[in-house]
Amino acid sequence: MKKKIVVLTGAGVSAESGFATFRDTGGLWEQFDVNEVASIEGWYRNRKLVLDFYNQRRAQLRDARPNAAHVAIAELEKRFDVDVITQNVDNLHERAGSTRVLHLHGELTKMRPENGEYDRSYSEKEVIDVGYDAVHLGDLAPNGSQLRPHIVFFGEAVPNIEKAIGLVEKADILLIVGTSLQVYPAAGLYRYASIDTPIYVIDPKPVPLSDKRVTMIQDVATKGMATFMELLRSVE
Ligand code: OAD
Repeated sequence: MKKKIVVLTGAGVSAESGFATFRDTGGLWEQFDVNEVASIEGWYRNRKLVLDFYNQRRAQLRDARPNAAHVAIAELEKRFDVDVITQNVDNLHERAGSTRVLHLHGELTKMRPENGEYDRSYSEKEVIDVGYDAVHLGDLAPNGSQLRPHIVFFGEAVPNIEKAIGLVEKADILLIVGTSLQVYPAAGLYRYASIDTPIYVIDPKPVPLSDKRVTMIQDVATKGMATFMELLRSVE
């Protein structure tokens, strides 16, 4: 049976595709107020501002390409049973060829009604794929309510966290790439890995994880993935 690798990714894996991360110098949360553009209160205060913010991100995604780190993660599927859990709202893992991608914080290319089933039952049936198109105030869902980004805003629950926990619990190897592990509940996921599961962390900055299972690969995602592939040969 193939070993199971669970990969948890954050903004850093897409940095080399031209996406600014959130908390680094020059990151998105320096340019925008997170409470205005990425919180549920911000949405109700100023829907236009929030729609515009995500319209910009969607337009940028249209022109972006997966980088060598996304590709290396996708290629792990040749030899391992792989699940990707991503905090990213881009679709670069899918475009690189990963077949099982669980989005914890939503997806840029999708919208849903502001007042709909999803918020009561997390039923995905009203979720609409808009691709890279802009969405404006007055663009309504079939149920007559304003379309909103299919994004987990700060202040909202993370519906996929239970699925993610289930995956991490089954991991033979956990790989964490490009996340500052500042945002819960995603940041606590590694704790669900079993006691003998090795955890590899790829990040150019030391990530404060005091856990003796952790091997730190202090490098950017593309180079770090190459190092990880080498290390894997010794554990296979
Ligand atoms: P952060 O911006 O908090 O962290 C990005 C991490 O990527 C940092 O640890 C960087 O050192 C690292 N990094 C930078 N360049 C890199 C590179 N080339 N290769 C590898 N790593 C690199 O982003 P996240 O941890 O993803 O949520 O943030 C978590 C959540 O906070 C996001 O999903 C988003 C944000 O607010 C929502 O908007 C709901």
